Amino acid sequence: MLFRSAFVRSRPPEIAPRFLPAPQPLPRIEDLGRDYAPYRPLFAAPPEAGHHLIAGWPVEGALIVTEPRGFLRPADALTLFDLARYQRGNVLEIGSAWGLSATILCRGVAARRSGGRVISVELDPLFQAATCAAVKRAGLSRWHSLRKGDGTALMEQAIARGETYGAIFIDHDHGPTASEAACRLLPELLAPDGLALFHDFNDRLNTSGAYGIHAAVSALLAADTRFAFYGMPGCCALIGWAR
Ligand SMILES: C[S@@+](CC[C@H](N)C(=O)[O-])C[C@H]1O[C@@H](n2cnc3c(N)ncnc32)[C@H](O)[C@@H]1O
Repeated sequence: MLFRSAFVRSRPPEIAPRFLPAPQPLPRIEDLGRDYAPYRPLFAAPPEAGHHLIAGWPVEGALIVTEPRGFLRPADALTLFDLARYQRGNVLEIGSAWGLSATILCRGVAARRSGGRVISVELDPLFQAATCAAVKRAGLSRWHSLRKGDGTALMEQAIARGETYGAIFIDHDHGPTASEAACRLLPELLAPDGLALFHDFNDRLNTSGAYGIHAAVSALLAADTRFAFYGMPGCCALIGWAR
């Protein structure tokens, strides 16, 4: 027993692989919803079991069809896995629905050596239960916590407690008010080197004003030069501290 614990303690810390994307200009709002980039690895690391699992899920139309259900493209899902797998610290997701993104994020954190948890924020009681059930069915509950309530209010509470996150997935209310709030709170929630993924940024509904994600991300990048835009995997926008 003494030998085993000494062995566990002596495991070398995992070296963080190099982040690959370079900063790029934000796409014009009128160009959204036309092209969807395939998955490109975010980090210089070989594919592993989580990537192979996700890449093997069936796709109908453009979306993954698996259990739990969701609205993710393969590029969205693989990018989520990369973020959870290779970023340090806890992962925050706002809006979890049936738990597809939550289980992917938990798989990424579970594959790390550095520890961490996924915190899902969900407003709807039925989806709160569905997320927890999906995470439990996948055997990932030890890496997951659920917070019940409104995304903006719970992000404000997290800031008040001094919490920061290595990766944040924003996928709840895509309207202008909630999107603006998420971008306003991001600088305080994101850990140094943290990255945030905004789902449905690359969607024509941003041009009509139904979604406010492009406007909010664009305003954040214009106001705060510490942030950079790192590309549009699938229908998402990846932003983070300029490196
Ligand atoms: C698109 S679904 C999330 C899908 C999930 N991220 C996935 O990929 O599997 C959006 C979810 O956000 C939740 N939601 C909507 N408004 C919210 C709010 N203000 N705060 C927290 N959750 C909210 C909805 O109940 C819904 O479950």
